[in-house]
Amino acid sequence: MIGKDTALAASYLQQGKLVAIPTETVYGLAARIDIDASVLSIFEAKNRPAFDPLIVHIADPSWLGPLVLDIPEAAKQLMDKAWPGPVTLLFKKSELVSDLVTSGNDTVAIRMPNHPLTLETLRLLGRPVAAPSANPFGYVSPTQAAHVEKQLGDRVSYILDGGESGVGLESTIVSFVEARPIVLRLGGMSLEELETLLGEAPEVNIATHSNPKAPGQLDTHYATGIPLIHASDIRRLASELKGQKLALLSFEESYSDLPWINSEVLSKEGDMKAAAQSLFAAMRRLDEGEADFILAEVFPETGLGRAINDRLQRASHRK
Ligand code: TXA
Ligand code: MG
Repeated sequence: MIGKDTALAASYLQQGKLVAIPTETVYGLAARIDIDASVLSIFEAKNRPAFDPLIVHIADPSWLGPLVLDIPEAAKQLMDKAWPGPVTLLFKKSELVSDLVTSGNDTVAIRMPNHPLTLETLRLLGRPVAAPSANPFGYVSPTQAAHVEKQLGDRVSYILDGGESGVGLESTIVSFVEARPIVLRLGGMSLEELETLLGEAPEVNIATHSNPKAPGQLDTHYATGIPLIHASDIRRLASELKGQKLALLSFEESYSDLPWINSEVLSKEGDMKAAAQSLFAAMRRLDEGEADFILAEVFPETGLGRAINDRLQRASHRK
């Protein structure tokens, strides 16, 4: 069922059921963190491996205290300025947070999402929820209620429809577990903005297989069914793949002299925020087409372009 009824959403959550919730980044698949069976049902619905920890979502910064051992000063300052918003903070967890949520880690990732329907639902519920992106494990994250409906519609009690996600990329994850802040995942808050809010350039340590710090940051992720190739020279690649049916995913250039069978130009005006907002929906549309390959441009490595390149790079890994 899809709708805008926050009281209904809160009552399903209260009963321990799964509800898809809108956020400014992407849609989440939410359940209470204090009922083990509910947390497990998230992993089951997404077909997500148990070693990939969940982000806890809260409706107010005051909900944070009981969930963590300590709130460092730098984290306080960032929360003050950035919440509600597209940044998740990593803390040492308290015993209120179960090992199921954190996949056995002694840390917990927490954020306050910026969406009125979800904030109201959480306030009505009166407790935090865990919410990964509401997509089958490894696929592109949903930015519309219809994306969730299509893939997980039969697995959730309710989809709270909050329209299209405004940011379009998952939250940036910053760890405050060490002495200095460390960015573990690029996302909806750019490094430039984060630097301004922190007052210093944070260390960036993006996880890969060889670096298990954020265990969920697998190389193969955000993947379309049609193979996607992330390349800086689109023309050369298109000529190498001559004879194949090709689809284009680009920032502002349309390469209209080439014979695309589908194309998605994310922002003809060169607006990176607009491009980020439409990225995942565009990937889904291309994936529904008939191409043999999707050729995705390397975006400028600035602002949200870095996170877009991160997602396209992971989408392009093949098992
Ligand atoms: O924007 C978002 O963050 C969205 C919306 C729904 O809020 N959620 C989201 O969740 O992207 P998910 O599950 O798709 O990604 C969560 C990632 C994990 O894969 C992992 O990389 C990291 O967050 N994470 C969570 N808890 C962690 C922990 N204790 N230590 C290290 N990384 C953690
Ligand atoms: Mg995800």
